[in-house]
Amino acid sequence: MRLIKAKDYGELSQAAANIIAAQITLKPESVLGLATGSTPLGAYKNLIEKNKNKDVDFSQITTVNLDEYCGLTPDNEQSYRRFMDNNLFNRVNVNKGKTNVPDGTAKDPAAESERYDKLIEELGGIDLQLLGLGHNGHIGFNEPAPEFVKPTHAVELAETTIDANMRFFKNRDEVPQKAITMGIGAIMNARKVLLIVSGKDKAEILEKVLYGPITPNVPASILQLHNDLIVISAVD
Ligand code: GLP
Repeated sequence: MRLIKAKDYGELSQAAANIIAAQITLKPESVLGLATGSTPLGAYKNLIEKNKNKDVDFSQITTVNLDEYCGLTPDNEQSYRRFMDNNLFNRVNVNKGKTNVPDGTAKDPAAESERYDKLIEELGGIDLQLLGLGHNGHIGFNEPAPEFVKPTHAVELAETTIDANMRFFKNRDEVPQKAITMGIGAIMNARKVLLIVSGKDKAEILEKVLYGPITPNVPASILQLHNDLIVISAVD
């Protein structure tokens, strides 16, 4: 594991964008696993700037996002598809046809999950997976559970996750209670994992993730077993 302690969110965002840009430069047809949440926003802003300045070319990459809320259409303002379009895809020269987010409107979430895993497999797996960290140690929407779940799957969101994500909705009742998330399998199979963690309120969970026991109660703790993990933190 490589741990980069950034002095603040700005430095974290720059470092993360540099690593993602380096990945694309070294392998222009990279498969990038992308994340939502507030933490990656700064990195995405930096990448948009780099793309404008022609320092990085997104034209050949493919992306697979970690997760999507069940029941939200792609054009819903709170959907993760919309988040990615607004905050990255519509602002860089990516081929939108090669950007993938699980379909939250799928009638059969199990079939959609299977399709998503097959897609990741057909793409040859993920070159670089970007991850944020939930306050309860979740990655994607892999919530604390009795065991690690390997495949993409539908999940009931933890009450604390619904509370945390409520800030993006008008009220708590509007927050979807289910989501489809990439499983621990595809994340751990990614050739490189970049975990970004920002804010004093995440210092304690980050300590558990990196140095505590590896347990499905802290889903991100499994990353200790990944052989190419980079963590960028700004939690002091
Ligand atoms: C959501 C997303 C996660 C994200 C987490 C933390 O639950 N599904 O992928 O890492 O929120 O978000 P934030 O970065 O806003 O704290």
